[in-house]
Amino acid sequence: MAVDVLLGLQWGDEGKGKIVDYLATAYDIVARFQGGPNAGHTLKFDGKKFVLHTVPSGIFRENIINLIGNGVVIDPITLANEIEGIRNMGVNFAERLLVARKAHLIIPTHRYLDAASENAKGHEKIGSTLKGIGPTYMDKTGRNGLRVGDLEQANFKEKYESLKNKHLNLLRMYPEVDFDLEAEEIKWFEAIKALKALKKVDGEYYINEAITNGRQILAEGAQGSMLDIDYGTYPYVTSSNTITAGVCTGLGIAPAQIGEVIGITKAYCTRVGSGPFPTELEDETGELLRKEGSEFGATTGRPRRCGWIDLPQLMYTIMLNGVSRLVVTKIDVLNNFSEIKAATHYRYNGETSKKLPYDICDIDIEPVYESFPGWQQSLDGISTYEELPEAVKSFLTTLEDQLKVPVTMISTGPERKKLILREVMEVMD
Ligand code: GDP
Ligand code: IMO
Ligand code: MG
Repeated sequence: MAVDVLLGLQWGDEGKGKIVDYLATAYDIVARFQGGPNAGHTLKFDGKKFVLHTVPSGIFRENIINLIGNGVVIDPITLANEIEGIRNMGVNFAERLLVARKAHLIIPTHRYLDAASENAKGHEKIGSTLKGIGPTYMDKTGRNGLRVGDLEQANFKEKYESLKNKHLNLLRMYPEVDFDLEAEEIKWFEAIKALKALKKVDGEYYINEAITNGRQILAEGAQGSMLDIDYGTYPYVTSSNTITAGVCTGLGIAPAQIGEVIGITKAYCTRVGSGPFPTELEDETGELLRKEGSEFGATTGRPRRCGWIDLPQLMYTIMLNGVSRLVVTKIDVLNNFSEIKAATHYRYNGETSKKLPYDICDIDIEPVYESFPGWQQSLDGISTYEELPEAVKSFLTTLEDQLKVPVTMISTGPERKKLILREVMEVMD
């Protein structure tokens, strides 16, 4: 099958950027299929660090095509800054970075509306990244949106003004928030020059012709399945389908083209923003996870909420995505813990269950944990599964037994090379 998928199984920030950057050389095309500048995908290699928001994480690999698919929402300001950063690293991307014409544009008043709407929600706020994601997808489904292809049309300015005026009318519903629209518009119109200079494609034809020509494609997810608009912890979610199904609509491919679905989980769990998080640790253990894992948002810098890995939650997202391979990241973050836990069940409404309840946002869920001894040693220098301490292997084996999916990669540090690979056959034995 031509299109493999890589996506996050928790609430985002599982380490997708690092793994896509590693895997990209096995593919011809890396394509983002949803989300937008709310994403922050961190890559570390050759002593350098780069955070990508809109550009797919294959951009630093020579000869690999990177497609921003039509399911993505693009803020030209963020994109122009990203492109500038990539150019400054001496990377030649002119022929390798493509944008689908049907991708929607985030305009400054989308961000203005995001800020006003969040502000009006008070203590019920979603904790949005305020990048204009919700309002832009609302305009897409409301059939008012502006698309990349519109930039090439003569009446673009008219369309822009009409959308902006609609937003200004909507903004009257909300209490005032600080937003310098004039300054943001100047930046936006400057930034669209960089977007206009990129190669545009009819994404659905491009990708299907690539498939016909035998090209291998990796679809890169943003956010995580628990932030999916339909199946996440609604309303504390993002505004796109972050699950495998989103690949079909976000790139214009048929379900039968989907091959491996590679799901990523941290060895523990994090969430940034509001909403339920059953295994959250609001104590010194959670604090230690945040410190050891440097758990601060790559897009907003906000501290991430931390807790133990949650197996019922992972079973749910593995089911939704059809995950065929698991990647466990940030195992090194647990190096100094004497005891590690994994939630195996939940208790709620007087019962024990492995299912997430409909009213997850409203009821108290008590996780039931299994405990594991820590390994209390550094994993530096370990490059094969066999060399891993027995305690690490026993933890990973439990994950496989419970989740029924083989762990094929284990990430032991932020750098590209800190990765232990396992052959699938070996895992299945
Ligand atoms: P993404 O949004 O899924 O791409 O993940 P982020 O980049 O937002 O967050 C992951 C963070 O963990 C980044 O700072 C990465 O550099 C870092 N990271 C990725 N893999 C590992 C790992 O195996 N160990 C450690 N310690 N850090 C990692
Ligand atoms: P990556 O791709 C973690 C969260 C926000 C907020 C909610 C809605 O780096 O994993 P939005 O800006 O979409 O309206 O925010 O979703 N969120 C993320 N959390 N990683 C992300 O992306 C996220 N993108 C959005 O914190 O709770
Ligand atoms: Mg991130």
